[in-house]
Formats: sequence, C-alpha cells, structure tokens
Amino acid sequence: MAARGSYVFVVFAMVVSITVEGTIDEELSRFLGEKEELLRTLEQDVLVGYQRKCGTQCNFDRNIYACSSPVLEEESVCSQDYGVSISTDAGCTTCSNRKLSMSRSYVRTPSREATCTDALNMDICLSQGLDNSFRENWMSMDKEESGVKWQFFASQSGMYRMFPGVAQERCHDYDPRLRAWYVSATTGPKDVVIVIDSSDSMDFRPSTSPLTLMGLTKEAVTSVLWTLTHLDYVAVVSFATLAQQLTIQNKNTLIRATRDNIQALTQEVRRVEPNGHTNFEAAFRTAFDILRRSEVVSRTAGCNKMVLFMTDGEPTRGEREPEQLTQIISSLNQREDGSKFASIFTYSVGELADTTITKKIACNEGGVWSEVEMVGTASLAEQLSQYFDYYGTLREGQGQVIWTEPYMDAFGAGEVITGAKAVYNTTTVPQTLLGVVGIDVAISATEKITTDKQDLLDTLRSRSSSCADIRESSECELEQLRQKVYEQGTIRYENNSAKWCDPSLAQECTLPVAEQCDNQYQQYSNCRNHSTEKVDYVAASCCSRYDEPCPSFTTRISSSLQLLSISVAALLSFLYVNMILPS
Ligand SMILES: *[C@@H]1O[C@H](CO)[C@@H](O)[C@H](O)[C@H]1NC(C)=O
Ligand SMILES: *[C@@H]1O[C@H](CO)[C@@H](O)[C@H](O)[C@H]1NC(C)=O
Ligand SMILES: *[C@@H]1O[C@H](CO)[C@@H](O)[C@H](O)[C@H]1NC(C)=O
Repeated sequence: MAARGSYVFVVFAMVVSITVEGTIDEELSRFLGEKEELLRTLEQDVLVGYQRKCGTQCNFDRNIYACSSPVLEEESVCSQDYGVSISTDAGCTTCSNRKLSMSRSYVRTPSREATCTDALNMDICLSQGLDNSFRENWMSMDKEESGVKWQFFASQSGMYRMFPGVAQERCHDYDPRLRAWYVSATTGPKDVVIVIDSSDSMDFRPSTSPLTLMGLTKEAVTSVLWTLTHLDYVAVVSFATLAQQLTIQNKNTLIRATRDNIQALTQEVRRVEPNGHTNFEAAFRTAFDILRRSEVVSRTAGCNKMVLFMTDGEPTRGEREPEQLTQIISSLNQREDGSKFASIFTYSVGELADTTITKKIACNEGGVWSEVEMVGTASLAEQLSQYFDYYGTLREGQGQVIWTEPYMDAFGAGEVITGAKAVYNTTTVPQTLLGVVGIDVAISATEKITTDKQDLLDTLRSRSSSCADIRESSECELEQLRQKVYEQGTIRYENNSAKWCDPSLAQECTLPVAEQCDNQYQQYSNCRNHSTEKVDYVAASCCSRYDEPCPSFTTRISSSLQLLSISVAALLSFLYVNMILPS
C-alpha cells in the first residue's frame, strides 16, 4: 500500500516538475523534431520511388493536376483551416471553406511550356508513392496541436506535388525551385555578395525587352534576394566609376537575410541609377572588404561564400589589363592559409559585355561564367540562380533540415514556417539532386508554445545551422560541374565548347551520361496534358460557396481517428515519463 502510494506520488511529482522545469526550448525542440522526423519519412519515400526509375509503370490517371482536376466530391473534405481559396472570382472570395483531398496529392508544373516534358513526367511518376506517407503522417497527428499544413515534394525539374490536394486557379505561375526553402535546403546557410554594374551603358534597352539592362538587372537581383533566408548573410554592391555597398542601417558588413532586411535592401536596389564608367577592380575590392570585415565581427553564416558579379561592359577604369586584373582578384580572394574566401560566379549581360575577363575570373575562382541570354526577366533571374544548382551538386551526403522564418503561405494557409530537406542520389558521382521535401507548419501552433518571436527564430536558426559539406573538387570535376550547370541546370545552354574553362580538359572531363531506361519513352509518354482538361475552379475548390454552413473538419474525421491521436498522445507521455523517471 505504501509502495503504491509513493509510486503515485512520484508520478504526480514528475508531472509537476515537467510542467515547471520543461522549458519552452524543450517543447519547441520536441515540436520541431517531430516534423523533422516526418521529413525523413518523406525523404525515404522519394529515394524508394526514384530507385525504381527503370521499373515503374506510371498510371497517369492516378495523378491529379491541381489546375485541371476533376471535382472529387466523394473524397474531398471541407476545411476552414487552409485559408480561403485564392481567387479573383467574386463568387469564390465569399467561400471560406476549401475543398481538400485527403486521399491524394495534386501536382503542379512550373511553366506552360513544360507541361509534358520527359523530365517532369518522370518526376510525376516516381513521386506518386509519396501519397502513402502524406496520408499516414496526416492521420497520425493531432491537426490542431501539430500545426502541419502542406506536405510536399518539389523535384529538380520543377514539378510540385502537394498534400492535401487542392485545386489551383492558375497552374503555371509557381516555380518551387526559386522559393527560398528550396534554395536554402540545397545550398545550406551561406554568405552571398551580389555585385551589379550601374555604369552608363546599363541604360541600354535591348530591342526584345520593355526594360533597360539596369531594369532587368534590378528585377533579377530582387528575385535572387528573395531566394535567401534568415540562415544566410548578404550584401549588394553597385559599381560604376567607383563601387559602393547598398547599405541599410549604415551597416557596412554582410547583413542577415531576414525578410525585413531583404525588404529594405530591395528598396535600395530600386534606387540605383546608371551613371559613370566601369571599374571591375573597385567592385571586387569592395566585395572582399565586406567579406573580410564581416568575418571580424562574426556577421557570417560561417559556411560557403559566393560572389555573384554582373556586368554589361568591359573595364574602363581601374585595372583594365586582363592578366593583371585576374591576378588582383585572385589575391583578394586568398586567405592566409592559401584557401579561397569565396567562389565567384560571373554573368555577362547583353551583347556588349566583356566575355574574356569575366569568364577567366569565374574559371580561376572556382565558379561558373554565364553569358546571360536576354529573352526576358525570368530568364535572367533563373540564370542568376544557377549558382545553387552548382552547390547542390558539389555537396556531399544527404541534406540537412532547414527551417524558414514565418511567412505568408503562397497557397492561402496563412502564416507558416517551412521545414525542408534536400534529397540526393548519393550513389552517383557527382551526386544528383532529386528535389526537396517540405512541410509547412502553422505559426499559430508554435504560438501555443511560445509567443516570443525571437525565441522561436533563435531555435529555428540553431536547428538549421549546419553547413553543407562541400567536396574538395579537382579542376576536372569542376569542369564537369560547369557542364552540368550548363546542360542540366534550371536553364539549359547549348553545348558550346566556348563555355569551357579549359577546352583541353573537354575529352577526359566530360560529364558521364546519365543512364537511360530501355523503355523510358513508353513509360513516361502517357502524360495527360492538363491544360486541356480545364474544370471550373470555383466548383473544384470551394465548399458551400454562398455562406451555407460547411461541415467542419473535425466532424468529418471519424471518432476513431480522434481516439487514435489521443492514444498516441497518451503513449508519448507514457514514454516521456518513463524515460525521465530513472534520472
Ligand atoms: C541512383 O543512381 C544510380 C545510378 O544511376 C541508380 O542505379 C539508382 O537507382 C539511383 N537511386 C536513386 C534513389 O535515385
Ligand atoms: C558537347 O561538345 C563536345 C565538344 O564540342 C562533345 O565532345 C560532346 O560530346 C558534346 N556533348 C553533348 C552532350 O552533345
Ligand atoms: C499539350 O498542349 C500543348 C499546347 O496546347 C501542345 O503543344 C502539346 O503537344 C500537348 N502535349 C501533349 C502530350 O498532348
């Protein structure tokens, strides 16, 4: 009797001490850790799916396109928890209950041109097995407490598979590869210095473009800035006759790429006006001054550093002699131990741009040179973003989970944080990025644990701070990587040996050709052209359009499911108590 009494007392005491001593940090840690576990199950599913690359027969009827899906009355549930439908249609803005499929994910593709390409079809096909984990993850958690909203996979070809399935009004305006969580998951935390030419000649307007080169550059830089996250540090330098950093809050170092800082920095970028000559030397001196100063005061992610340098001309001030100039840049980029500070990526913009020095700099400094094709702003932005294709490839081992800052969900689910993890095939050399898995978590769920925003941000950062391991690469490997960026990157360049840093390496360092499946064509050729099957968006996405009461989420879930989540919670607290008790 006495023993039993004391046992009860111990349990009671434990419960009290957990509530008192269990710090907010532990709670947050557990909360985020659970989601990281879910990400690992999704990663496994992707690996299993892609392993079957040559054996999978794809039934495209099982894949539902978000913008042309049949209306799934039978399988859909109505929910207010995923925000209102995003629509310009007056009928639908009054509808606050979205129709969601809890049995299947829906897919999206990034551009109208890329509806039925082989690469996209293959990704649609190989990733359909994710539905099982999506569903299981969803069934196994308490919706309110876990805060999990979307679970998704974005492939390297730009295919996006999201769960719960939800109809979309437009299907070709979302490229997951340019989202901050995607970039951040593939590159890890990083320092980025963007250097833009603002000389007179940037006022030139190419005949194919409504914007001047300066205008195009500003848009591209803005879009690159928005691919950064609070795990990164950034600076923007503008140069003409002289060079200057675009500062905010008078900081002349790198600044953390928080959403507020990026907002302020894009304002500064907008203010740049073309004026003056072209001084490459001053530009690079300023860029490396910033990198050095930032290390001294620890304003750095402490991981990989890169300089993105854009110009439309050739040097007319400062050092102009190609040999001397590349020499100066090499020594600026050298640490005392001989290693390099940063990889330098150079972009020749427009027809008059120098292509010799810019290429030479990238080749010397472990980066990639690109001749930017002037066919539109998206193109320039995408071409700028190829640096992360490069990092994705140079990486060794599987990706680490990264957490973003809170932001408004693009698909209407309110304020969320995203946890994301890059998935690689690590058996190829160099390893291949398959895509990124992710989970959006409602910020309202974290607020139940802590309302201290700084505390949340600190935790998110500390859980995402591991650097990506970058392989030490030989010149030959770097050359292969450049080819890979040119040929298989977000932007495909023609196979042009002028792009090679060292054409003499071209024979021995050609990228190994990816193995093709024998019957690949038949396997992936049945893709349905989803633009041809347009259904009424309002009908496909809205429950009870005109203020009718809608069955709420919870009443649609069977009570056995609730029972399950209760018993899971009970089991967890049991384990927790028992693991703590011995100490
Ligand atoms: C990784 O690549 C190898 C070689 O191409 C292939 O045999 C294997 O199935 C791939 N695995 C995955 C998970 O993609
Ligand atoms: C690219 O060009 C090089 C030489 O110009 C050639 O050896 C190589 O086979 C080409 N690669 C492809 C994929 O066409
Ligand atoms: C898909 O639609 C586009 C444009 O309507 C067309 O050019 C293309 O051939 C179609 N593809 C298939 C596989 O039907």
